[in-house]
Amino acid sequence: MAQILDGKALAKDIKDELRIKINNWVSTGHRCPSLRCIIVGEDPASETYVRNKIQAATDVGIQAETIKYDASITEADLLAAIDLLNKNSDIDGILVQLPLPGTIDERKVCNAVAPEKDVDGFHIINVGQLCLDMPTMVPATALAVIEMLKRFKIETLGRNAVVVGRSKNVGMPIAMMLHSDRNHDSGLGMDATVTICHRYTPAEKLEMYCQNADIIITATGVPKLIKAHMVKPGATVIDVGITRITNEEGKTKLVGDVDYDEVSKIAGAITPVPGGVGPMTVAMLMLNTFRAAQNLRDKTALLHYKF
Ligand code: GUN
Repeated sequence: MAQILDGKALAKDIKDELRIKINNWVSTGHRCPSLRCIIVGEDPASETYVRNKIQAATDVGIQAETIKYDASITEADLLAAIDLLNKNSDIDGILVQLPLPGTIDERKVCNAVAPEKDVDGFHIINVGQLCLDMPTMVPATALAVIEMLKRFKIETLGRNAVVVGRSKNVGMPIAMMLHSDRNHDSGLGMDATVTICHRYTPAEKLEMYCQNADIIITATGVPKLIKAHMVKPGATVIDVGITRITNEEGKTKLVGDVDYDEVSKIAGAITPVPGGVGPMTVAMLMLNTFRAAQNLRDKTALLHYKF
């Protein structure tokens, strides 16, 4: 059976470490790091995600509040609200929960958050810096995957990695860090040989690339896409997918992209869903918020993520 990469336990360790660091920061005369989460409309999944973020923030000593707007808010009013937060020196981190109503241009909104307060790493400047291996704000989910590979000591240098899913906020930044040079400035390069698969990768080619992979990272939202016959014995499988399904008894549950029961018999290491990448993503968002707070005081803090 595969080693289970317990993201929930690791997230707890990271939050414990962060709580101590934030406590030291505050006891040396700085104010509490602060986070504002903007949510627009009534999407229940988004409300749960934001609630978890606020709870985690409070738990580590970050002062966090949700700012809720009706789905009818105009793009101009939302941009104006973000601008006020950008200019407020009591606020370190800002995130706008996605998706937004169709009337609002998400890219415009992501680019409206000041890059140094952009704890989601979605601003065009932060995305660009990531692509150039520069110190930057990295999207929390991608950072969670890299942190798990590092903390669980999964070798990546020269290994074959397949990223399934090419979204700009998840698959792309993961692939970007996996393939890049660990000696470059970001400190996040993993030196793997990376293949990106997506919806137009033919099924038989997806199988072929996965069978050749030492590490599979999947972020598609397609339940049971990755089956045992697609996995090389001993490979590491990281499942970023989270889909809520209703089973035969009418009960809802969360499942990932991986057919966990069969793949866990073949893989060397595997993340569960829930309890894998999800809790780590929240922990990494807290790390980004503390980095934003440090950076606003001390312009050198963004130089490296310190693992
Ligand atoms: N919606 C789903 N995932 C995310 C995320 O990581 N950040 C934001 N802002 N919205 C999301």
